[in-house]
Amino acid sequence: MSEIEHRQRVGILGTGYFGRALAKRLFFSGYDVILGSREPDRREISPNQDVLYDIKIVSVQECIKSAPILFLAVHFEHVEKLLKEHVQLLSEKILIDVSNRKIPSKLTSHAEEIEKLFPKSRVVKAFNVISAYAMENDYDTSSKQVFIAGNNREAREIVVDITKNMNFRPVDFGVLISSRRIEKHPLRLFPEWRFPIIFAVGVFNGWLLFLIYIYYMFESFYNWEQLSIKVMNKAVCMTSITTLSATYLASSFATIFQLYFGTKHQRFPRWLDTWLKTRKQLGLVSYLLVTVHVIMSLLTMSPTYYPPWYHSTRVRIPANLNSTFEFQRITWMNWKGEATSLVGICAYVVLSLVCVTTFPSVTDKLNWREWRFAQSKMGHAALFLSVAHVLVMAIPVWMKHPDVVYKSIFFVCSLLPWATLVLKFVFMLPCINRYVMKIRKGWIKGEECERHKMNRGYTAVDINNGTPTQSQDVSSIPENVMMLRKI
Ligand SMILES: Cc1cc2nc3c(=O)[nH]c(=O)nc-3n(C[C@H](O)[C@H](O)[C@H](O)COP(=O)(O)OP(=O)(O)OC[C@H]3O[C@@H](n4cnc5c(N)ncnc54)[C@H](O)[C@@H]3O)c2cc1C
Ligand SMILES: NC(=O)c1ccc[n+]([C@@H]2O[C@H](COP(=O)([O-])OP(=O)(O)OC[C@H]3O[C@@H](n4cnc5c(N)ncnc54)[C@H](OP(=O)(O)O)[C@@H]3O)[C@@H](O)[C@H]2O)c1
Ligand code: HEM
Repeated sequence: MSEIEHRQRVGILGTGYFGRALAKRLFFSGYDVILGSREPDRREISPNQDVLYDIKIVSVQECIKSAPILFLAVHFEHVEKLLKEHVQLLSEKILIDVSNRKIPSKLTSHAEEIEKLFPKSRVVKAFNVISAYAMENDYDTSSKQVFIAGNNREAREIVVDITKNMNFRPVDFGVLISSRRIEKHPLRLFPEWRFPIIFAVGVFNGWLLFLIYIYYMFESFYNWEQLSIKVMNKAVCMTSITTLSATYLASSFATIFQLYFGTKHQRFPRWLDTWLKTRKQLGLVSYLLVTVHVIMSLLTMSPTYYPPWYHSTRVRIPANLNSTFEFQRITWMNWKGEATSLVGICAYVVLSLVCVTTFPSVTDKLNWREWRFAQSKMGHAALFLSVAHVLVMAIPVWMKHPDVVYKSIFFVCSLLPWATLVLKFVFMLPCINRYVMKIRKGWIKGEECERHKMNRGYTAVDINNGTPTQSQDVSSIPENVMMLRKI
């Protein structure tokens, strides 16, 4: 028996891009592949690769007859025409629908439609999320997910095995109705980024309008020429610190919600759920913005832009000139400039470390505790250092002009970060934390009272005469009493 005859046979209907890519991948994964075409004599699989000469191209009928598992590598609109003459032959065969939709549908899926057309076949939805390119050229795909759905469990399991053999990661979605979700998947466009980007753009516009009002309309503080970098830098860093606070504020809202309902089993409202699930993206947006802020700050870091951050000295020219004059010369940075920059750099370094733990290669190396430490503790440390960075800038100004503290931009932009840090601190207080931890371990407020109210004791029934006696304590019931019934 030749090596090919040992292999499990699979058929592919359609010799287009996806059909050929599938054929190659399946052949390399140890399957005996046969391709079914409307015009088998006019098709060839790949003249450049000798190994693929083992893949035969036959008629659609022959392909269906000789393979128990068939991939439908054909556009959905051609499926009925291609297969309607072979309904009998298709009975009991596993039909793997790989097709993608152009517009999503909540009411039906291609796979369900195919099952309606061929009710005696076992239809399974799979592989639609893998591109022909990845199927053909990318072999390091063990983490790439393939979603699988089908009403026949055995057929689904066979497809799961094929997926594993092809070095993809199968995800069993259960019955065929789930194929609606699977077909929607390739049509998504970064859905998890939608909320963080809308949020950041909204906040940025809000801060920019506020700064324009303060610096150009309320008073003429800056020149319009300084809008692109000097003023924009403020809007960028204020958006960044607001987004960073929003990243860490979500879990406090989750805690408040759990404390209010006294259980972790109550589902979060949709807005909170979305917020919690997009914290990674919020954090990354914040990191990107702060990187822009650092670049803009370095571009403008000079005595001209930040005179209060530099020492200045007066130079006096002797009077043997016609007239005496003196001018100011700004020299090195003073403590305000150096301390602000240092604390800013520390915040940036810590935030960069949080960002690094997002890379899958790093995440895979960390255990749960280490990951939580990096994300939660270091994330809060970065937020704290960011607030400290603003405070170092603000305190000298506030000391000079105590009347403007509440009106200053420093104050306004650090309100949310402060609220986030204070809430986190309050929930860490032992008396509150103990209660929160109890809820997170499954304790439910009110349930103990209910149990206590219900626990009115035991009725013990004397097996000799059937007389019932009541007791709160099992140990006090005499030995001759055998039957215990809880009240
Ligand atoms: C640069 C950067 C990169 C980031 N990368 C990631 C990332 O890769 N992945 C990621 O998840 N976050 C990421 N984040 C966001 C953030 O760092 C983490 O979500 C972090 O774990 C939040 O810590 P926390 O203490 O606020 O909340 P957590 O430690 O998540 O939560 C505190 C407690 O709240 C409760 N809680 C939180 N969420 C839920 C929930 N959905 N349901 C029920 N209870 C809940 C839990 O009981 C938990 O113990 C990133 C942030 C930044 C700045
Ligand atoms: N391309 C991708 O990256 C990709 C990714 C995931 C899923 N898919 C899905 O895979 C399926 C095939 O896609 P593809 O890119 O391979 O398409 P394609 O290149 O157009 O190939 C489709 C094949 O279907 C066959 N076919 C049968 N009846 C047909 C008809 N009436 N008219 C035209 N062709 C007919 C043809 O093969 P014969 O002429 O030999 O019969 C044709 O080569 C689609 O459902 C698609 O949604 C594709
Ligand atoms: C996580 C890191 C950082 C965050 C969140 C952050 C945030 C902020 C915020 C909120 C302000 C106040 C803006 C205002 O009220 O006017 C600010 C100002 C400033 N930051 Fe940062 N910063 C960070 C890191 C850095 C770094 C590394 C530098 C560069 C050395 C830097 C340089 C500056 C400068 C120069 C200002 C003054 C801007 C101005 O007034 O025009 N920051 N920063």
